Amino acid sequence: MISDRIQQMAPSQTLELNAKVAELRAAGKSIIALNSGEPDFNTPAPIIEASHRAMLEGKTKYTQTPGILPLREAIARKLRRENKIEYAPNEIIVSTGAKFALANAFQVMCNPGDEVIIPTPCWVSYVEMVKLAGAIPVLVPVAEDNRLDAGAIERAITPKTRVILINTPNNPTGAVYTEESLRRVAELAVAHDCYIITDEVYEKLIYGTTPHISIASFSPEVWERTLTVNAFSKAYAMTGWRIGYAAGPRELIKGISAIQGHTTSNSTSFVQWAAITALEECGAYVENMRRAFEERRDYMFERVRKLPGFRCPFPDGAFYLFPDVSGTFGKRAGSRVITDAPALAGYLLDEAGVALVPGNAFEAPSAIRLTYSNSMENLIEAMDRIEAAVLKLN
Ligand SMILES: Cc1ncc(COP(=O)(O)O)c(C=O)c1O
Repeated sequence: MISDRIQQMAPSQTLELNAKVAELRAAGKSIIALNSGEPDFNTPAPIIEASHRAMLEGKTKYTQTPGILPLREAIARKLRRENKIEYAPNEIIVSTGAKFALANAFQVMCNPGDEVIIPTPCWVSYVEMVKLAGAIPVLVPVAEDNRLDAGAIERAITPKTRVILINTPNNPTGAVYTEESLRRVAELAVAHDCYIITDEVYEKLIYGTTPHISIASFSPEVWERTLTVNAFSKAYAMTGWRIGYAAGPRELIKGISAIQGHTTSNSTSFVQWAAITALEECGAYVENMRRAFEERRDYMFERVRKLPGFRCPFPDGAFYLFPDVSGTFGKRAGSRVITDAPALAGYLLDEAGVALVPGNAFEAPSAIRLTYSNSMENLIEAMDRIEAAVLKLN
């Protein structure tokens, strides 16, 4: 019998859906996948060339557990230049994706029974990571317009609160949290002596006027309790390379490094060398991808907001739309009843051949997530199919 801990763990719904899409495609069905959480672009050529060069130069051995010094120095420069935060290289750890840094951070910060405040809707993995650390996820819904609700966060704080987690720009809502709301959260963390984890993996994908703000930049008091997590995955279309990082006070980084040293060791050596090229030479590639995403966001928003039963907040960042679809609940197509978001997602998969993720995966059961990281041609076709299927509901 497997352990109680793992029995209580829900598998990643987004990864399970990927497997389902692969299965349907293998069976010959035409599926447009608007479910995945990754850029559709290829990794910029200079990054690929840099990793190739590194391999040929023999940079294929173990590295220091927290990562090669030139990369940690490049990350420190990036955080100073773009995020206005000072970190020394020994306050940075490079990990196998942001995911591994995050999972380890909860292990390092939490004792069993500690509470972690997670504003919802939230990314699928946080809750399971917190549980795996023996801690308790405390889910706090954001405000109606997807803004952080600092009042609700304050009300959720107890003597057991250990961490407040922030994810901006947000997956799945696309909200970019304002400086004012982040300042309120920072004040709460200082007043109640808790850590902040800030997941900034979508920072480069912003389309509105609200800038990305790194909460650790506010003051030394905030810096000393904050772990800033970021990655190469979304910004540089490097999801499969598995490289991300965390920056924070030395004690936290040492703790994360201790776990990493006994589990995955370092992030892949030649990927680390390539990541330096990403940070220092690929700004123009990122901007081109950002512009393409913005155009797609505008197109998709216009189509989705007109669908009967859908209510779609306008997202300022990331590459997701997260409409409330409760207006479709109770409707039917033939003998099929749309009872909830998974039923709607199932109907759209079968009827329209479009894969979407039900909001339950993000602790928001009345919504569904559509990813617009796909070619314009596929997005147009997907929306035509979705519209036709939704119009059949009555
Ligand atoms: C909010 C958020 N954080 C972290 C990650 C994981 O990033 P990585 O691929 O670098 O592990 C994802 C990926 O979907 C994400 O959406």
